[in-house]
Amino acid sequence: MTFGFPPGLDQLAPQARDLYIRDLKSVAGIEKLRFFPLAVESGFGCTLVEAGGRELLDLTATWTAAGLGHGHPRVVEAMTQAAKRPPGAGGLSAAHPDSVGLAEDLLALVPGAGDRRVYLGHAGSDACDVVIRASRFATGKKRIVGFHHSYHGGIGVAMAASGVHVEAGSVTADPLTTFVDYPNPYRPPSTDPSGPEAALRASLGQVEAALAEGDVACLMFEPILADGGMVVPPPGFLRGLEELCHRYDTLLVCDEVKVGLGRPGMMHAFQLDGATPDLVCFGKVLGNGLPLSAAVGPAEILDGPSAAALLTTAGNPVCTAVGRTVLRVLQEEQLPERARRAGERLRAGLEQLQNERIGDIRGHGLANGVELVADRDSKVPDKKLAAATVYRAFELGVVVYYVGGNVLEVTPPLVISDAEIDRAVEILGQSIDDAAAGKVPDAVVAAYAGW
Ligand SMILES: Cc1ncc(COP(=O)(O)O)c(C=O)c1O
Repeated sequence: MTFGFPPGLDQLAPQARDLYIRDLKSVAGIEKLRFFPLAVESGFGCTLVEAGGRELLDLTATWTAAGLGHGHPRVVEAMTQAAKRPPGAGGLSAAHPDSVGLAEDLLALVPGAGDRRVYLGHAGSDACDVVIRASRFATGKKRIVGFHHSYHGGIGVAMAASGVHVEAGSVTADPLTTFVDYPNPYRPPSTDPSGPEAALRASLGQVEAALAEGDVACLMFEPILADGGMVVPPPGFLRGLEELCHRYDTLLVCDEVKVGLGRPGMMHAFQLDGATPDLVCFGKVLGNGLPLSAAVGPAEILDGPSAAALLTTAGNPVCTAVGRTVLRVLQEEQLPERARRAGERLRAGLEQLQNERIGDIRGHGLANGVELVADRDSKVPDKKLAAATVYRAFELGVVVYYVGGNVLEVTPPLVISDAEIDRAVEILGQSIDDAAAGKVPDAVVAAYAGW
């Protein structure tokens, strides 16, 4: 073992090991979430290239940010052309064709009525944060309703209103946020035998009670609870939220940052349930790896107060040129439809896996979760197995992470081929089998805390 460093480094190529050790010694731990010693030099399509040259199949798309695949030629071209044209920064104090153009493109892409505006930012975090602050300011109401195990950001109010962060103790909960249960069809309330319907009723009941208390500026929700465990809500959930928000005069904010823009097998995940939110947040794939986010909503919410959400390089022309290209590629290459078909093939393959520790397989398009449990009867979540499985997959040549403690998150780039899907299924199956058979030593897994 390399003395003083986490186990597993000895198995890496020398270049990967050296890079990982330099990273350990230089980059702050506060911004790391590691599952195995991944040291990447480049990538193409659904492939990540480790330092030293080993090729890995990427089932994460970098937490969905590289949704069009690594180094998509049209994205590279848009970025290169934009970088050659000054100014290198814009938006804050000047209009620029690409930032204005991206805002117009998003207005055309997102359903909604009346006079609307687009906030352009750097990350899903600031888009969600700004929407919460703007909703409070415009409505004069102070409370927010959100969900346990939700994720809306790693900064500001968006972080303090994120169940995942609050539960982990990495931030104090926003004192004016009420957290309620997200409906989980696999884990409905134990007292009710009617399964998903019971989960739906219980969740909407809690939402209604929270809204009825009054003074709620907005309700924040993820159309699929992603970092909380890739939980697909029962049909009717989004429409139920919409109906309640209308009844209690509360803004409905849909956070599409992680699973939106083609990944669910349609352009927007809120379309799964035919709902129309008041505000929608985007990030990740919008920049295909460059820092870019957006929020779309009513002018009366997003126009004021002026100069209250200032990031010097927000809306910068390189990122917004890429954002425009991403939206075009999504439509021209029919990636939502490709994601729908690829997801069906992926889930059909996963369903064939025999391991009894697979409790549930769920998803829409290429937003998928594989929940690992102690056994199918007890459904006890098996976090250790999830950690060992992703470690073993890395050894076997696949990059996959887990969310919600025990759920493998399978979110490859939308351009994944059938052959890559079949390879993914095979290696995931092998990894679960090997991890369940104890082939990954506990000490190795323990060194990578994950979350
Ligand atoms: C649903 C959701 N919203 C917001 C964010 C924050 O995005 P970012 O990390 O790009 O700031 C994330 C990140 O995982 C997310 O999953």
